[in-house]
Amino acid sequence: MLRALLFGPGWRRGIWGCSFSSWQPHQPPAGLLSATEVVNHWAAVFEEKGIPEARESSEYIVAHVLGAKTFQSLRPGLWTQPLTPWQLQCIQELSSYRLQRMPVQYILGEWDFQGLNLKMAPPVFIPRPETEELVEWVLEEVTQGPRVVGAEGGPLILEVGCGSGAISLSLLSRLPQSRVTAVDKGEAAVCLTHENAQRYEDPVALDGGEEGMDIITHILALAPQLLKDSGSVFLEVDPQHPELVGSWLQSQPDLSLHLVAVRRDFCGRPRFLHIKRSGPQRGSPVDAWPGRQPARVPG
Ligand SMILES: C[S@@+](CC[C@H](N)C(=O)[O-])C[C@H]1O[C@@H](n2cnc3c(N)ncnc32)[C@H](O)[C@@H]1O
Repeated sequence: MLRALLFGPGWRRGIWGCSFSSWQPHQPPAGLLSATEVVNHWAAVFEEKGIPEARESSEYIVAHVLGAKTFQSLRPGLWTQPLTPWQLQCIQELSSYRLQRMPVQYILGEWDFQGLNLKMAPPVFIPRPETEELVEWVLEEVTQGPRVVGAEGGPLILEVGCGSGAISLSLLSRLPQSRVTAVDKGEAAVCLTHENAQRYEDPVALDGGEEGMDIITHILALAPQLLKDSGSVFLEVDPQHPELVGSWLQSQPDLSLHLVAVRRDFCGRPRFLHIKRSGPQRGSPVDAWPGRQPARVPG
């Protein structure tokens, strides 16, 4: 049994290089092609070859080559701008792996889990999106339940079968006082977990103080000076924060700021806040995610 003891920050980022062969089937037609045209081309090729999630695969590959995580997050100007020959070749190379049914996560060489960007490499298991729910449950239990205290004051966590380290590393990033031991019978998994532990975001980027509210309250304290009447602040926060932010704003009436809406993320967690400075008219708090279970708005 191999194990990785996880702690310590440090950030390195990797990206697959592209090497080119002269034989390039399914190449898009010659000419100046935009990102949108190339996405459409490869989506059609994947579709025709029965590749699962044809359009999503094509979008991820094109976005990756253009330096973005998703096609939708690209600057709209880049959707229509002609791609360079190097970009086209890179997309061709990565798409050829997809045609061999390699999972997109292995092709891109990275994937996000709980906000952490993790290296992915075969043969190590690609974490499932639903596993994020397990992490959320553990976090809920640890933060709400009676404390299990380890030598350093945080919980002691053992993960058996860590794969890429997704669960262990996301718990460690959200519970920085914890001590996590991750074990796996596969050497490749333990090595990848070690590598992923080195890709930590700067802990300062995740350190929001005692309740994670330091930066939020700092922004909100400055907001009244920066906002016009009825001006807005939008925040992405931890799921525990909507309640805390609502209570905090109520305790700071001089700020004239009001939590007017909470939106849930695609996992159903209340993560996005709309805060407004008092203007001529004030709306009452509403959930702004039609068709979803409403997030409770405090206050
Ligand atoms: C389905 S993967 C899950 C990986 C990771 N927890 C995740 O969610 O992404 C199961 C992992 O357990 C490891 N594993 C299987 N049997 C094991 C054992 N007896 N002891 C330790 N690890 C084991 C495998 O090598 C594999 O990496």
